[in-house]
Amino acid sequence: MKGVVLAGGLGSRLRPLTRVTNKHLLPVYDKPMVFYPIQTLVDAGVTEIMLVTGGNNAGEFLRLLGNGEDFGLNMMHYTYQKTEGGIAHALALTRQFVGSDKVVVILGDNFIQGSIKKAVDDFDKQPSGAKIFLKEVDNPVEFGVAELDGDRVVRIIEKPKDPPSRNAVIGIYLYDNDVFNICQTLKPSDRGELEITDVNNEYIRRGTMTYEVLDGWWADCGSFEALLRSNLLVARENGVKI
Ligand code: G1P
Repeated sequence: MKGVVLAGGLGSRLRPLTRVTNKHLLPVYDKPMVFYPIQTLVDAGVTEIMLVTGGNNAGEFLRLLGNGEDFGLNMMHYTYQKTEGGIAHALALTRQFVGSDKVVVILGDNFIQGSIKKAVDDFDKQPSGAKIFLKEVDNPVEFGVAELDGDRVVRIIEKPKDPPSRNAVIGIYLYDNDVFNICQTLKPSDRGELEITDVNNEYIRRGTMTYEVLDGWWADCGSFEALLRSNLLVARENGVKI
């Protein structure tokens, strides 16, 4: 299985922190943000990784990550997203790299406490389809939110005004190779992006979406509060009394 880390965009909700630099280079406790999602993939046994970047200071990722030596890798793959086209647009850029494999996609500003190794291994055995991770949150309006019927996801709504549940869809997605065909069919949303939620809803429509409820905490860095919370969670995880 190939791994993709998405680290593009302008990080506009974090300005002025992101006025001159890429959001994923900002510090989270003692490391640049992007280190954590890469480590999550490596810990899950995924070692062929492509980073998609764009926006400010895109070239700095090469200086920072090199060939992935900090993670015990001997090669990192990179590609460049010229415009802010959204998560599904960024994923589409990795088609050649992924080849005929499955892919695990992680957003470069998402942190988890635990491991996704078991889910990745399970998905390797799943003949086709997709898998997402859900986590209960207090502020579902800020995320993609899953509507469940028993143990089935029936729909995902992006940033719902009236959330059908508190189950946020976290920024780690497992896809079969058909994801690239699905990306090609998408139309930009109201925010002008190709939405990963539209990709996920297509797998739900086909009846091939599975999900897991994530153990342990999850955080992203979509807002100042979320960035601060991520710093605190990661610092505490490292034994800092704060
Ligand atoms: C994106 C996804 C959303 C998901 C979130 C997780 O939101 O669109 O479904 O819940 O990441 O971090 P964005 O950060 O692009 O607003």
